[in-house]
Amino acid sequence: MAAPVLRVRRGLPFLGVLPQFIREAPEFLYRTAREHGDIVHLRVGQQDVFSITNPEWIQDILVTNQSLFKKSRTLERARVLLGEGLLTNEGDAHKRQRRLVQPAFHRERLMGYGAAMVACAASARERWREGETFDVAPEMMRLTMAIVARTLFSADVGGEADEIGKALTEVFHMFRTLLLPFSQYLEKIPVLPSVRKFHRARKRLDETIYRLIAERRASGEDKGDLLSMLLSAQEEGSGMSDKQVRDESLTLFVAGHETTATALTWSWYLLSQNPEAEAKFHEELDRVLGGRLPTFEDLEKLKYTEALFAETLRFYPPAWAIGRRALADYEVGGVRIRKGQILLMSPYVVHRDERWFSEPLKFQPERWLQRSMDEKPDRPKFAYFPFGGGARVCIGERFAWAEGVLLLATIGQKWNLRLAPGHKVETQATITLRSKHGMKMTPNLNVLTPT
Ligand code: HEM
Repeated sequence: MAAPVLRVRRGLPFLGVLPQFIREAPEFLYRTAREHGDIVHLRVGQQDVFSITNPEWIQDILVTNQSLFKKSRTLERARVLLGEGLLTNEGDAHKRQRRLVQPAFHRERLMGYGAAMVACAASARERWREGETFDVAPEMMRLTMAIVARTLFSADVGGEADEIGKALTEVFHMFRTLLLPFSQYLEKIPVLPSVRKFHRARKRLDETIYRLIAERRASGEDKGDLLSMLLSAQEEGSGMSDKQVRDESLTLFVAGHETTATALTWSWYLLSQNPEAEAKFHEELDRVLGGRLPTFEDLEKLKYTEALFAETLRFYPPAWAIGRRALADYEVGGVRIRKGQILLMSPYVVHRDERWFSEPLKFQPERWLQRSMDEKPDRPKFAYFPFGGGARVCIGERFAWAEGVLLLATIGQKWNLRLAPGHKVETQATITLRSKHGMKMTPNLNVLTPT
């Protein structure tokens, strides 16, 4: 086979293609892949980045040869808030922590979290008023944040979860800035008011979390939440230190709400644009639930709702790009990548490739129900990877599926959401793929109003 021709997009002197990246990275990567193929060399600022869109090569990088890579720098910078948690750790330390945290996501635990998910969604849906337009994007964010606070720090202690939620919202604002390129210098300028604010908020957050840990250790009670799970995690006689428990719970908090919230926001939007899908969704909810609230046990029956969530994750994957830095020289698709260079794999781009999905720009939940005649029977595994893969695959994947389906079902049971007339819908790629102008929608009561 002839060696592939590597196409290089150099862009402007010094900046490279950074401006395109800042403006609309996912679409830029999509166009680049269509024009230049499965591997494209980009100069992003002073950095050499290779966009890889071939599923087999992605599997090689994320799974088969994963030890030859580490995560890229954005997440390294997240250490200022998250310390040495799962997202930021590498190598053996990561492996050990992953083994300790994993049981928190076992099925029996998830069943308990399911009840908290439905309870939070049920109270959210009661706040909405027929015909009163509101922004669904921050509402979904509040909802998933309340859920992760409850499931982490116990469903029955609302006050503490709220306290942590508030402290976190404060640190979050600055945290986003700290993930930007060159921000490592910012954090070192303690006279900057925003940096001082961040340090103060982080201190308050730590005090609350450490107090919770101390109380829980003293009582020894298993409350069935993630915190109890982290505290009881033991391996070869050694558990986690308070600092590790703090880092892991913050990591789960940060990683565990924005992704699901953005996916749900896109689901409501996509439903509002696809009346046929919306009708099938409501038909399923009425048939399976008949007006009662969903439970964890209903998940296996809510097949259309699950397909709808899967299709949303295909169309607008919240983790729109996954980055890796090469620890040694590496060859991919006949191209040599040098140690230190970055590989970027974008689910957004791969999920829109007609080699793997028929009519990829159409929203079709049905494609997940059964491989229909026109679906691709030999679709490679990594043609769909909203949760990544290999040792760093999302630890919260099953939590997210349960949360996505249960929230759609609980809310969809009562409401239809209509996009506000004239509301502009555009993507914005920050850490997650958000909707740039929020999502102004109007709730209408369903005909079958739940009891
Ligand atoms: C639709 C929702 C979600 C999506 C699309 C998503 C996506 C991802 C992706 C792609 C990764 C891998 C990143 C990489 O390899 O560089 C990841 C990692 C991670 N996710 Fe999620 N996630 C979601 C929900 C959640 C939830 C609900 C939690 C926790 C409750 C969570 C916790 C984590 C953690 C801790 C990691 C790091 C795992 C490790 O490196 O060992 N995620 N997520």
